[in-house]
Amino acid sequence: MEVETYNVQNDLKVRLSYVLNTLVHMAAAIVIYIVWKFAIVNDSIDKKLQLHIIFSVTGYQFLIIEAILSFAPSNSWSFIMHHKHRKVVHLILQVLGAIFVIVGFSLAVAAKSPKLHFRSGHGICGLIGFIFTLICLVNGTLTFLAPKLRDKIRPTTIKFGHAVCGCIAVSMGLITLCIAINTSWFINSNGKGVSGIATALVVLSLAFTLLYPAKSIQGFLANMRTTEL
Ligand code: HEM
Repeated sequence: MEVETYNVQNDLKVRLSYVLNTLVHMAAAIVIYIVWKFAIVNDSIDKKLQLHIIFSVTGYQFLIIEAILSFAPSNSWSFIMHHKHRKVVHLILQVLGAIFVIVGFSLAVAAKSPKLHFRSGHGICGLIGFIFTLICLVNGTLTFLAPKLRDKIRPTTIKFGHAVCGCIAVSMGLITLCIAINTSWFINSNGKGVSGIATALVVLSLAFTLLYPAKSIQGFLANMRTTEL
């Protein structure tokens, strides 16, 4: 007779990961609301910068975060999906996210005088995030083609590169957002409390979103070590 073993610790872990997933979605929605409101209500902001803010925050805090979460086993809207369908959804969200990031970046660059580019922490981190987002599009495509490229490069190596670049891209994008929402410009308009809460929510959503890719990166490294032995 088969005896069903009930592991309380595992059960708690699974429940906790579903709760955290819900919190991440809520945190992202609140951040997007705060930043969109700031950009839309504030008439003193130049039109290009207004759109820069809307596109950049939507790209990183919504589309790219959801693209990463689509593979998380406890993600509310995708846990029931088959892996091959998750791959398609991930591709769509990642491409849409990259388009938003590219548009947001181009608008910020167009809004400033050419001699003043990438001098601030916001500009430098935003540029690094932008470059890694583009790299992710390339190695993401390679990940889809990995089985066909098996003779030339190991699929694990391609997937590892994509996961690492994805983590760097979203981290730099959201660090750039944190710098923006801690400027005196944002604080004067929204208050120190809103800026602090928004920063805490961005950090929370980033930390919990990175849990899943961090686990796969760890898995890839272990796999590489064992196949080298
Ligand atoms: C994920 C979100 C964001 C990313 C990735 C991002 C990225 C960038 C980049 C790459 C630049 C170009 C900098 C340059 O040419 O030196 C820039 C400029 C700018 N961004 Fe953002 N940004 C984001 C959100 C925001 C937000 C929320 C605000 C407003 C509170 C903002 C305000 C500005 C301003 C005022 C500039 C031009 C002035 C400057 O950098 O000194 N950005 N941003």
